[in-house]
Amino acid sequence: MCGIVGFVGRQEAAPILLDGLSRLEYRGYDSAGVAVVSPRREIQIKKSKGRLQVLSDLIHGGKDMEGTIGIGHTRWATHGAPNDVNAHPHMSEGGKFAVIHNGIIENYVEIKEFLIKQGVHFKSETDSEVVAQLLEFYYNECHDFFEAVGRVLRRIEGAYALGMLCADCPDRIIAARKDAPLLLGYGDGENFIASDVTAIIKHTREVAYMEDGEVAILTTDGIEVFDALQQPVKKERHHIDWEVSAAEKGGYPHFMLKEIFEQPEALRRAISPRLKGGKVVFDDMKLTVEQIKAFQRIFIVACGSSYHVGMLGKYTLEHLTRRSVEVALASEFRYCDPIVDMNTLVIVISQSGETLDTMAALREAKARGAYILSIVNVVGSSIARESDDVIYTWAGPEIAVATTKAYSTQLAVLDMVALAFGEALGAVDAKEYEEAVTELEKLPGKMETVLEHCEDIQMFAAQHFNHNSIFFIGRNLDYALGLEGSLKLKEISYIHSEAYASGELKHGTISLIEEGTLVVALGTYGALFDKAMSNVVEVKARGADVLALTTESHRDEMAKTVSTVLTIPDTAPMLLPSLGVVPLQLFAYYVALQRGCDIDKPRNLAKSVTVE
Ligand code: G6P
Repeated sequence: MCGIVGFVGRQEAAPILLDGLSRLEYRGYDSAGVAVVSPRREIQIKKSKGRLQVLSDLIHGGKDMEGTIGIGHTRWATHGAPNDVNAHPHMSEGGKFAVIHNGIIENYVEIKEFLIKQGVHFKSETDSEVVAQLLEFYYNECHDFFEAVGRVLRRIEGAYALGMLCADCPDRIIAARKDAPLLLGYGDGENFIASDVTAIIKHTREVAYMEDGEVAILTTDGIEVFDALQQPVKKERHHIDWEVSAAEKGGYPHFMLKEIFEQPEALRRAISPRLKGGKVVFDDMKLTVEQIKAFQRIFIVACGSSYHVGMLGKYTLEHLTRRSVEVALASEFRYCDPIVDMNTLVIVISQSGETLDTMAALREAKARGAYILSIVNVVGSSIARESDDVIYTWAGPEIAVATTKAYSTQLAVLDMVALAFGEALGAVDAKEYEEAVTELEKLPGKMETVLEHCEDIQMFAAQHFNHNSIFFIGRNLDYALGLEGSLKLKEISYIHSEAYASGELKHGTISLIEEGTLVVALGTYGALFDKAMSNVVEVKARGADVLALTTESHRDEMAKTVSTVLTIPDTAPMLLPSLGVVPLQLFAYYVALQRGCDIDKPRNLAKSVTVE
């Protein structure tokens, strides 16, 4: 969850670390800190509760910390309250070691008790501090930084991406990784570690992804990597080809708004190369037709918005392939003794490719013999690397915590997977396939027309931002779409919101509808439009204030009952949610804006959740 950056080179480290951290704040932002080794071989640490700006002000943009080697951290608290003391880096008692950590040290209590018995005094409530203290303890025995790291790694259990400094070895950072993202950046006379490439892309585009169990030694001259047995490893380097501007706001007030407006372009990247001669063609998928035919069970596993994409995908996959598909929350899947074997396909969806719950579900499925096909945005991420097959969404870097363009591209890719599978199995109707492909080509353009009407949504949000509770209702695809609309609103505006399958309202929830309750009624799915209308009438009869979303062809019909009707262009049914989600994203955005919320960094949330 937390963000890590490290620098060793010839320039002053602190400003580079602060800049890197500013791009990692989406990973956690309750406190931040940096450690820099001074020319006098002393480790200086500055850290503070609150946003990165507080730290930056404290050290005058880094000017107060002299030294060309350092590590920085932005925290999302798990063990210990977000305060100055619990912020990273943690220093060992003797002042020889500084450590930044992302992940959880599961056996920290036992290690802490052991060290306390040895006379070590702890300052913080964190699990991470044990790494710094244990390093010093072992170092005092062996007087070798690398050896002490090895002993620590053999002793700790859990997940970690670690950056470590030693005052006695002021020319190097040692980094280690297990179950938490960490990459190495290769510069010219300078080298980096980072949780995410956005932190270092200004300085280098040459990166390598650390694997579980690996340890890296970074100096100005180069990076050496070793496996768990301390044998040298030759790393494959990757060139990052997206522009630095992709991770900047580019004139938009928030990353979220920028990313909402980037969706048509992101969709073009995800769709166009995969449509050839009227067919969906995945050059990047290894699965053969024979393998697809042999699967007896299909699961989709994901968390959060990616799970909502999975729910939509279930409808489409089942419809086009006539195979039953189960969608599972990753955090539940791994503990439910799932019926998964060699004949099972597990489709894993994740923007970050690092979500711990999703990763654990993937491993559980893999251990049971399943074939893993993942749909991932972040290239080279852990989930991508551990899957049998990866389809990238190519949405570009997504910075706002609330996902938008990653969701849209995941959905488009999953729709295309459904079409490809449907064709492979001979289950899809030729006319429907053709229409879907034609409409997929038009989808980015149609989304642009939806975005042109963003002012209508802004006006509506201005009238309704004061509600305490908002309901989303819909059937079938519109129900799954409503779940995402409701989640967006909750995440960034903090308004209580629920999404219901419209038909379920009468079984309980309708009791909550009273005069003035806002109900967002989703009626884009033409086949069930009449049913959707009857539910609109039901809530209106109980006094609800209704905002309806439907297609252009159903606008007039809807307008007979509802005064505020938003529309999306007509398209193939399976693609309706791809367009329908845009007004819902914008609604959440503008409501949050009216309420003065911190849109890109909502309270208590992090973009990449690498804890269970
Ligand atoms: C976090 C984010 C959500 C996201 C979920 C799954 O909770 O705040 O926006 O949907 O993680 O993330 P993933 O990267 O696996 O798609």
